[in-house]
Amino acid sequence: MELLEAIKRRRTTNGPFLPDPVSKEHQRLLVRAAGMAPSHFNSQPWRFVLIDDRSVIEEIARISGESMARAFEEGTFWKRYRPYFRFSEEEMERRRDGIFIDQMPSVLKPFRKQIFSNTAGALMNRFGVPKTLGNDNRKLVAGSPLILAVLLDKAEYRPGELSGFYSIFGMGAAIENIWLLTTELGMGIQFISFPMEVPAYWKEIQDLLEVPDDLELMALYRLGYVPPDKRRPTIDWQSRQRKRLSQYVFRNSCATPEPDEEMEPASR
Ligand SMILES: Cc1cc2nc3c(=O)[nH]c(=O)nc-3n(C[C@H](O)[C@H](O)[C@H](O)COP(=O)(O)O)c2cc1C
Repeated sequence: MELLEAIKRRRTTNGPFLPDPVSKEHQRLLVRAAGMAPSHFNSQPWRFVLIDDRSVIEEIARISGESMARAFEEGTFWKRYRPYFRFSEEEMERRRDGIFIDQMPSVLKPFRKQIFSNTAGALMNRFGVPKTLGNDNRKLVAGSPLILAVLLDKAEYRPGELSGFYSIFGMGAAIENIWLLTTELGMGIQFISFPMEVPAYWKEIQDLLEVPDDLELMALYRLGYVPPDKRRPTIDWQSRQRKRLSQYVFRNSCATPEPDEEMEPASR
């Protein structure tokens, strides 16, 4: 696949994967591609744990599902991430960022805008919505044939210092290599973020993976091969839109936005 084609086609997969195991060859290709990324002074501060043992995956899935239910029950998820939610295609088209939940059970659609209110939160808790969502998340993670844990070497990752800042850049580049390569290999990838949202659950993951003191656990991803007929989950969003050049690029100084092209880059 051409590089630009892979860049354009790269996406987050929030639906299920095929049950087929990810071949060892593909697993190694992914981490080798990650290891080819640039890093400050070639420090290569990243470390990876390839997790394909069912019992470990199921335990991560349990922790992920429970942490998701907790974050929704306590309302922390909505509070933290409210600015990223869009409520209509028109808003999405204007701002060209954030996510628009366009797929949900039709009974919920009229209440879309009220989702962040305390009343809606209490109502959702009363109907056990957080538990249902958490359980769906557990199943999604449990059904993933491969989980990848990403860690940073604490000798480099020192928050507040430049090397800490640099090592996050390098880690981002390494992950993007993996993300692009999944596109070429017919695979999908999704960040498993909920255990990070609730510190006690993140600690459970660290213990499960036996993370040593000199490494910082940074992220978890689920990976697998993508089914040919991608059915959308009951609750799904779209986030394909990207800002126009004039919304994020400047010429020579921050005072001059770059003009938009006639044809949007995403459609070329
Ligand atoms: C640091 C980071 C955290 C993310 N967290 C999540 C997440 O928790 N769940 C998820 O489904 N996607 C997550 N994503 C993916 C973004 O939602 C996604 O990249 C964005 O909406 C654009 O969609 P696309 O990747 O399909 O182009 C994350 C991406 C990044 C870079």
